[in-house]
Amino acid sequence: MGIALDIAGDWDAALAALAWQVEAGVDEVIADTPVNRYDLAVETKKPAAPQPVPQPVAADPVAAAKAAATAARSLEDLRAALAAYPHCELKKGARNTVFADGNPQARVLVLGEAPGAEEDREGRPFVGRAGQLLDKMFAAIGLSRTSPDAQSALYITNVMPWRPPGNRDPEPAEIAMMLPFVERHIALVDPQVIVVMGNTPLFALTGGKGILRARGNWSEALGKPLLPMTHPAYLLRNPAMKREAWADLLSLQARLR
Ligand code: URA
Repeated sequence: MGIALDIAGDWDAALAALAWQVEAGVDEVIADTPVNRYDLAVETKKPAAPQPVPQPVAADPVAAAKAAATAARSLEDLRAALAAYPHCELKKGARNTVFADGNPQARVLVLGEAPGAEEDREGRPFVGRAGQLLDKMFAAIGLSRTSPDAQSALYITNVMPWRPPGNRDPEPAEIAMMLPFVERHIALVDPQVIVVMGNTPLFALTGGKGILRARGNWSEALGKPLLPMTHPAYLLRNPAMKREAWADLLSLQARLR
């Protein structure tokens, strides 16, 4: 039962009216106009206005590489930092992180491009056909990756530690990600001379392109003498270019004397 009253503003009248209503058996309170409680319920259940959610800042792969590489105090640190680096997609398709081979005391550091199928399988750089030619080329001037003697030793690594699918060229963004590791690698080995084999390491260390023009011309990178040479895989396909490669090896030998 309900009775409509208009007693707004008068406290005593309101209290008396309420008492009278209770006495009269009123058991609900109604207004002049009906209220649709279903609409009210919907209104009160309206979702709160969306608040801006702070987005995680996307990691900068090059900055992350710089931080990881700079923190490495030894070659083993660097190897572990590289193996833990999460931003390069090539890693997902690779069996191994191919770090380096040879003697870290070597006067000559050879920088190649990226592992191929055999290197990916074995986890060591330059172990396929191109690698066998590379070993023969340097053996011809008395340098070997297996030599324990720093004078005649060789240290070998690549710009990319992971095999690109189908042996495609590494992309500039992939090279940029790996560059801090390469620079730290070279700083830790501290060779007398760097030999870059092919376009990718030439571009990585000098920004230059065109290995066929650059080969044999000494320049400098990271404060060290740098000799560009044609890649042994190119020499396998173009044996006539071995003459120039031999001239480059003799130039390296002369530099080391
Ligand atoms: N080619 C490279 O540049 N590096 C390797 O390790 C193998 C082939």
